Amino acid sequence: MKYQFAVQKTATPKPKPDPDTLKFGKTFTDHMFIMDYETGKGWHDGRIVPYGPLMLDPAAAVLHYGQEMFEGLKAYKTPDGRVLLFRPYMNAARTNRTNERMCIPAIDEELFVEAIRAVVNVDRDWIPDKPGTSLYIRPFIFADEAFLGVHAANHYKFVIILSPVGPYYEKGFSATSIYVEEEYVRAAPGGTGYAKVGGNYAGSLKAQTKANAMGCEQVLWLDAIERSYVEEIGTSNAFFVIGDEIITAPLTGTILPGVTRDSVIALLEKWGMQVSQRRLRIEDVIKAAGDGTLREIFATGTAAVISPVGKLVYKNSDITIREGKVGPLATRLYETLYGIQTGKIADDMGWTVAV
Ligand code: COI
Repeated sequence: MKYQFAVQKTATPKPKPDPDTLKFGKTFTDHMFIMDYETGKGWHDGRIVPYGPLMLDPAAAVLHYGQEMFEGLKAYKTPDGRVLLFRPYMNAARTNRTNERMCIPAIDEELFVEAIRAVVNVDRDWIPDKPGTSLYIRPFIFADEAFLGVHAANHYKFVIILSPVGPYYEKGFSATSIYVEEEYVRAAPGGTGYAKVGGNYAGSLKAQTKANAMGCEQVLWLDAIERSYVEEIGTSNAFFVIGDEIITAPLTGTILPGVTRDSVIALLEKWGMQVSQRRLRIEDVIKAAGDGTLREIFATGTAAVISPVGKLVYKNSDITIREGKVGPLATRLYETLYGIQTGKIADDMGWTVAV
């Protein structure tokens, strides 16, 4: 290992949660990773400490101008007791693309992955192994320098926390209802849509609340200019199966380059299916639903994994997909992906990294 981190173990370990009732992101493990950055000194003092509150100056830049980023990935326990991370170097690379956009200093990608491995290893007993569960890993970086002018900070913290999780949606792997949002937008060209920053998510809450009030789990975002092209579903990338073509939005700056999105495209291509990364109008989705060629819609993400869509709510009408049932492609993708992630299916893509 290129990097070594000091480890201070907790004197008061917490009881582990019941794996049968795990929710998403409600419980946290006993330890966390912290590292500091200072201009002129670089990233330094990486350490693993007991999980607990962080001290922040009330003038810390992150609290005022939101200079921060976050990532999400998972660790899984295999039937033979190994611990696997899924494509952590993709999160490391995306971190640096986000950092570049947010004027946050770059971080060595090997350091990023080594820090994850080290803290997951300390809390490896927290990784649940019931079907549908995993250990969600949340790395994040924020500006903790105290000042009120608007400029990039000279001091940052890189923190990693861990949360044993069940499915993101309470119903687990089942069809979701999605509200097509025409008023609010998630990302505009030239903005921060491709970066993983909290502000993108804060700005989405208004539409999410609207969707929930309509009885939907999530929002289908449309493009900011014409309010016509489908972009993402809530916190996930979106895939549409129309006839023999599987369509997802191209990575043109307003779309988050999802690790699950990339993995799904790779699997579909390996299975000989036609995947198009192209713009798709919502009206063409509705037309395909009407003429019977819309075969499936599903969302992909680290938290959501594969999340099938059974209903769209668009302009006060309900469009039911596959009679509201989960489709075969979403099922095959979910089983294959989760199988590779948990070591139950051979990883011939070279995606998993042992801790
Ligand atoms: C993830 O899928 O890891 C995400 O970051 C979504 C999150 C906002 C729950």
